[in-house]
Amino acid sequence: MATTAQTNADLDQIGKILAKHGINDTTNDNKIVVDLKNVNGYRPGFVDSLSGDELPEHTRNRFAKYGIDLSKGYPERPENIPHFLDEGYAIRNRANPDYVERGRNADPSKKNLLGAAKEIREITPLIGTEVVGLQLGDLNEKQLDELALLVAERVVVVFRNQDLSPQKHLELGKYYGEVEEHPLVAHVPGLRGATTVWGPFNRVGPLITYKKGLHQGWHTDLDHEFSPAAITHLHLDSIPTTGGDTGFASGYGAFDKLSQPLQQFLEGKTAVHKSAHRYLNRDNVLGAPEHILREHPLVITHPVTGWKSLFVNRAHTVKIVGLEDSESQVILNYLFDVYEKSLDIQTRVSWQPTKPGLGTSVIWDNRVSNHIAIPDYNDQNGRLRHAVRVTSLGNVPNYDKNSKSQREALFGA
Ligand SMILES: [Fe+2]
Repeated sequence: MATTAQTNADLDQIGKILAKHGINDTTNDNKIVVDLKNVNGYRPGFVDSLSGDELPEHTRNRFAKYGIDLSKGYPERPENIPHFLDEGYAIRNRANPDYVERGRNADPSKKNLLGAAKEIREITPLIGTEVVGLQLGDLNEKQLDELALLVAERVVVVFRNQDLSPQKHLELGKYYGEVEEHPLVAHVPGLRGATTVWGPFNRVGPLITYKKGLHQGWHTDLDHEFSPAAITHLHLDSIPTTGGDTGFASGYGAFDKLSQPLQQFLEGKTAVHKSAHRYLNRDNVLGAPEHILREHPLVITHPVTGWKSLFVNRAHTVKIVGLEDSESQVILNYLFDVYEKSLDIQTRVSWQPTKPGLGTSVIWDNRVSNHIAIPDYNDQNGRLRHAVRVTSLGNVPNYDKNSKSQREALFGA
């Protein structure tokens, strides 16, 4: 992007100010050229596109099998990326009246899905199920509706040994809602909405940062949206032999762990969520880039299960509305800790084992969970872990004061 300076004389000085904010700029023809890749925190050395040859073998083979065109490089960047905050806010700044909550249409017994599977494994009592012996690409609508119900109940569901085309992956996401097309993040060529998750694309140097001490990274995806992410389907088609797991924690469980007085205090309150990416304020272009902010209920009621869940995460939730900042921070930190430090409401999903040449799919409900990537693998500095993510947005989060917690609904207490 470019913005014209008010006077010609101060270009150097403006450049220094931008640099202070981490924005790369060049002065050229009395214009400041701001590199938005740096505004959004990519490391120096960001590459726009790699050649398809650099993809891991399994990914390359899958893309070749399903006709993904890599002739123009990989991945593909979105066109017309937004630079300014108002442009960021304008993206999907509305409810989605056409949204269908698929899990609501499901047969509560889930017999079409569960009956067709070879085996159903509960990973832990409260969170995580593995479905064995089914191909996601072969499921019919009844089974897909039941899968939405299963995901809503179990928070995260794993399918190994999947032969899934990127096109089918995207189609499944569209069945579950409006697929999020990220304004800044790159995607599989020709398939907007099939987002690339691949270390070498936006990182230079070793992926592993052991020296950072406490690893922080618990979050949920796209909670700053007007209608936040509902169901995310992450498919790994190239998986390290060990490591690169993903941790998940249940929001139903987090809510149930709170004392009743604290639950009552939180219910009905709202919190402010910020976007992961930042944008320039048109009225203060030399100020630090700013996040999109949106307000959602702190306790939500899941539209399918009807269970209450704690809707916060350390990465994005910045403030409980109506409290003093210092009060808000203390309470939020406690709530983040409940999510992050309670092993009884968590599960850790390993992407291996899966058969050579096939991938693993993990589908989770963003509305009722936090998750964390565990960057402990070092296969060629992360080159061998390649994933495609499709996120289906849900509806505007809602809190129903007559709803129950998961424990109340399942166990009566
Ligand atoms: Fe995420």
